[in-house]
Amino acid sequence: MVYNPQKVNLRGRVFERFISPERIARRVEEMAGELTDRYAGREPLFLSVLKGAYIFTADLCRSFGAETSLAFIKASSYEGMRSTGDVRFAGLEGLDLRDREVLVIEDIVDSGATLHALMPVLRGLGASGVEICTLLLKPTELRHSLPGMMVGFEIPSAFVVGYGLDYDELGRNLAGIYKLAE
Ligand code: IMP
Ligand code: MG
Repeated sequence: MVYNPQKVNLRGRVFERFISPERIARRVEEMAGELTDRYAGREPLFLSVLKGAYIFTADLCRSFGAETSLAFIKASSYEGMRSTGDVRFAGLEGLDLRDREVLVIEDIVDSGATLHALMPVLRGLGASGVEICTLLLKPTELRHSLPGMMVGFEIPSAFVVGYGLDYDELGRNLAGIYKLAE
């Protein structure tokens, strides 16, 4: 049994189930199928952005039907429910991207500031191509252009947790995605 309540209270805030584990699983398989068609035989590097993308990455790469390697970096800009606007990356040292086709795997794109800051860094490390795959996108919050991004679900501009995403480090282990109740 996975952890799948209808509602959950995290540090005094109530979150309601918004996307079920079954719907996520179906969409993740579809996305993995598209990625298999796109990358088969090209041995991409899946670059997962921790911590939020850890579950999405694990599911996506197990449905990806070709050879890939995997690396992780950590990005931080959020405190509580707000982006600080100041994006920091850890784990880039020792990452050899020369002539690699990189697929960045993100949990959620909100303002787009994190990925906007990351893209030139990855190209600077020699990547021959950089593409983005995100489970969630809040289109109304997007402030930066991120062309060609693969998106699992477009969602309204509410704070969400679960399936890897957190509120103050809680909620990552929820099997579905939960939205802050109004
Ligand atoms: P951006 O840089 O504004 O696009 O924000 C991206 C990062 O902020 C994501 O990778 C998440 O870590 C975090 N984030 C943005 N929105 C949410 C949310 O609704 N719930 C949890 N984390 C979020
Ligand atoms: Mg993230």
